[in-house]
Amino acid sequence: MLRVVLFCALALIELNGANSKRAIRTFPEGFQFGASTAAYQIEGGWNEDGKGLSIWDVTTHMEPSPILDGSNGDIAANSYHLYKRDVEIMKEMGLNFYRFSISWPRILPTGFSNKINQAGLDYYNNLINEMLENGITPFLTIYHSDLPNDLQKLGGWTNPIIVDYFIDYAKVLFDLFGDRIKFWITINEPKQICYEGYGFVDKAPLLNMTGIGEYLCAKNILLAHARAYRLYDEQYRSKQNGVIGISISCSWYEPATDSVEDQQAALDARRFDWGQYGHPIFSKEGGFPIELKRNVDTKSAKQGFARSRLPKLSESEVEFIKGTSDFFGLNTYTTKLAYRNASLEGMYAVPSYRDDMGAILVKDDSWPQGASSWLQEVPWGITKVLREINELYGNPRVYITENGWSTTGGLLDDDRIRYLRNYLDAILDAIDEGCNVKGYTVWSLIDNFEWLNGYSEKFGIYEVDFSSPNRTRTPRKSAFVYKEIIRTKALDFDYEPEEFKDGIN
Ligand code: BGC
Repeated sequence: MLRVVLFCALALIELNGANSKRAIRTFPEGFQFGASTAAYQIEGGWNEDGKGLSIWDVTTHMEPSPILDGSNGDIAANSYHLYKRDVEIMKEMGLNFYRFSISWPRILPTGFSNKINQAGLDYYNNLINEMLENGITPFLTIYHSDLPNDLQKLGGWTNPIIVDYFIDYAKVLFDLFGDRIKFWITINEPKQICYEGYGFVDKAPLLNMTGIGEYLCAKNILLAHARAYRLYDEQYRSKQNGVIGISISCSWYEPATDSVEDQQAALDARRFDWGQYGHPIFSKEGGFPIELKRNVDTKSAKQGFARSRLPKLSESEVEFIKGTSDFFGLNTYTTKLAYRNASLEGMYAVPSYRDDMGAILVKDDSWPQGASSWLQEVPWGITKVLREINELYGNPRVYITENGWSTTGGLLDDDRIRYLRNYLDAILDAIDEGCNVKGYTVWSLIDNFEWLNGYSEKFGIYEVDFSSPNRTRTPRKSAFVYKEIIRTKALDFDYEPEEFKDGIN
């Protein structure tokens, strides 16, 4: 009898333990919270008031449409007209900052700086002023995927002349908005621009110049970024007092087994995917990572190319690019397993980026799956990314400029809440280890056009009703949870928003 009572008592203690609250964790003093969007994905107004065409306008109007649901960004969330509601949402949320991008062809319709579109200028001035009046810090991305189509006709990011045109454009923005913008991002996600757009068919301009286009693009992107940084640093910083950096997308690649081959495969994947851009800017020695040079140089020679498909960075270019970012803008969503074996032969086009990388990247079915096929929840991956950035690049200041979760819709988004909480928890782990993380940005403030997947995947903490002409915005449950995190600057896994206590509000 005594043993039964003892057993029950112990079981009760266990049970209470399981139900007990997780400790509330707080963010460091000064930690900033924001949300992010990008021009083409939310603005609409694609051909209004003198705006020129971007490569996404052209891609979404191709016949047959390459977009999963046949949709486009012609109206999108209509933020071109509804920006005041967007700022109202930022205020409702208590955001510290809002990260948005400028549409290059809305400001310079042909891409060249000889003609500035006044209506485009008015739009961004109104948006920025509205934010400032409401106490929201604007965090401006100069380029987020929507290249003016006229520049694409000249080869886009594969033509070195793009660097000059990008600088002309950046200068226009520094001149026009720099009095009020103190946080600049030159370019969002070089890998997605270069590999997915020029080396493959996952992003506009769908060029598919495998094994060639992505590397030409990479060099030009790095030079364009570095020149914009140096221009700001030398001619604007002393008057405008801002900071300027780049946002690089970093997934974690974990060796599938602890074999030497798989460890090398995972390392190669990380160096190809983000070391290619991070190393030249943030490492002490500068230049492309050796893994990238070694693989592409060797394969190019074997394939009979007269020279490596990876363009060289001259010594002066290496020096010019090195150290050109005031912070590491980190976009990070997920993790994959990497392995290497004979089955790689014939798996990818030759030449191609994936063949050069020489790693097979797979998902783990035990990880929670988002609505986007590539997106799984693996919180420890973000800790490892942050740790590697710290170790490789001398612990730079990091702003997480994108992180988020996709669903197929609905206001009750408990899976997004779980993802956000687990990732924030993993970020706090990295901070505890000494990583210098200064801010966090959720992707996205509102539902938007998810590139080739159209409107089939929802990333917003606010739902947008795309069937309504008003594009009504409604907060999801995750919006209330994120709002509480911002308000308290703390992570409380047990917080339940009042509005959703009895299910949907
Ligand atoms: C991009 C966003 C995109 C998000 C989700 C990032 O790669 O910067 O434009 O919508 O991921 O896919």
